Amino acid sequence: MRPGKLPDALPEGVFTLADHEHRARERTSDAVWAYFNGGAADEITLNANARAWQGLELLPRVMRPLAGGHTRIELLGRTLAHPVLVAPMAHQSLAHPLGELATALAAAALGAGLVLSTQASTRLEHVARAYLPDPGRGPLWFQLYLQPDRGFTKELVQRAESAGFEALVLTVDAPVSGVRDQELRAGFQLPPHVSAVNLQGMPPPPASAATPGRSALFDGLLTHAPTWEDVAWLRSITRLPVLLKGVVHPDDARQALDCGAAGLIVSNHGGRTLDTMPATAAMLPRVLQAVAGDAPVLVDGGIRRGTDVLKAMALGASAVLVGRPVLHGLANAGATGVAHVLRLLRDELEIAMALTGCRTLADAPGVLWPSGQIR
Ligand code: FNR
Ligand code: LAC
Repeated sequence: MRPGKLPDALPEGVFTLADHEHRARERTSDAVWAYFNGGAADEITLNANARAWQGLELLPRVMRPLAGGHTRIELLGRTLAHPVLVAPMAHQSLAHPLGELATALAAAALGAGLVLSTQASTRLEHVARAYLPDPGRGPLWFQLYLQPDRGFTKELVQRAESAGFEALVLTVDAPVSGVRDQELRAGFQLPPHVSAVNLQGMPPPPASAATPGRSALFDGLLTHAPTWEDVAWLRSITRLPVLLKGVVHPDDARQALDCGAAGLIVSNHGGRTLDTMPATAAMLPRVLQAVAGDAPVLVDGGIRRGTDVLKAMALGASAVLVGRPVLHGLANAGATGVAHVLRLLRDELEIAMALTGCRTLADAPGVLWPSGQIR
C-alpha cells in the first residue's frame, strides 16, 4: 500500500505465478528487469532450476482418507502453517515504493516465513516491526553477507538479534557477484533512492593497489571472503541458529554440520552466481543423503507451482524458499500482489496434496525422475 492511498489492486487476468511474471515484465524497466529476472552468463542454471521441477513427475495414490489434512510442518522447533518462505532478495524498493515492508506484511498475513537480505532497501528494524506482530506469521530470518569489516558485521548481527530476527542465514555461494551479462547490457544501476540502508556507515574496505601480476579479485575483494572458520566465529557472537545458504556439494553439507550449522539451504542463488551449476532439484537428494536427517535442509530455485513445492517436500526438503515470483507480485500490486503469489502457491499445494492422496506433508507422494527412478 502506498502511504495515504488505497491498497494496490491486483491487475486483471492474473491467475498463476507465470501471469504475475508477464504482468510484472510489462511494468518494469528493462534495466530493473535484467536485475530481477536475469541470471548469470548464459542462464543455463537459471533455466535448469525450473525445468528440473517440471521434469519430475508426481505419482498419485487414490482413495486415501484426506479429511483433516493440512500443510503444516515443523521447522527448527516451530510449527508453520505451510512450508513456503520468502527468499532473501536485495533492493526490493526497485519493485514498489514500500519495498520490503510490503513483502513483510504480505508474508506475515499469509503465514509465510521471511528472510530479509543484508542488502535490503528498508531498515531491518522496520521490517521486523511490520512482520512480528502478526500472530499467524512464519519465522523471521536475517540473511547475512559477511562484510569485510568483521566489527561492522558483528554490530549488524546484534541489530538483527535485538530486532527479533530468529535465525541467521549466511549466504556462502556469492563471494563475488556472478557474470551478469544481462545487467551490463541493460545498463542496470541502482537509482539514488534505493540503497542497502542496513550497511550505512560501513567503513570502506581497505583499498588494494592494482599491482601488475596481482589479481584485483583474488588479492582484493576475496581476501575478505567468508571461510569455514567464519562460521565458528559467527556462532561465537550470536545466540541465533545459523543456516548456510548456497550449499550444493554433499561434502560441504557435512562440513557445514560439523561447523555447527543449524540447517542448510540447497541453492544456486537462483542461477545468479555460477552458471552451469546443476539444478537444485538434482542436488537436493544428494545433500539430504549426506545430512542423513541431522539438520533441516531447505531448497530454492525455480519453484513456481504448488506441485513444485510438493515435489521438493516429497524429495525430503524441510521447506522451500521462493524468490522472483515475490518480486513480480510486489511490482504488480505491492503487498496485495505478494499476498496473492503466496496464496496461489498455498492453494495449489493443497490441491496437489489432495490429488496425490497426501493428507499431510509427512506422507508426500512418490516422485518419478526422468531416468525412470522412483523416490
Ligand atoms: C536474490 N538472491 C539473494 N540471495 C541472498 O542470499 N542474498 C541476496 O541479497 C539476494 N538477492 C537477490 C536479489 C534478486 C533480485 C534475486 C532474484 C535473488 C537469491 C535468492 O535468495 C534465491 O536464492 C533465488 O532467487 C531463488 O530462486 P528463484 O525462486 O528466484 O528462482
Ligand atoms: C543478488 C545479490 C544481492 O543476487 O545476492 O543480486
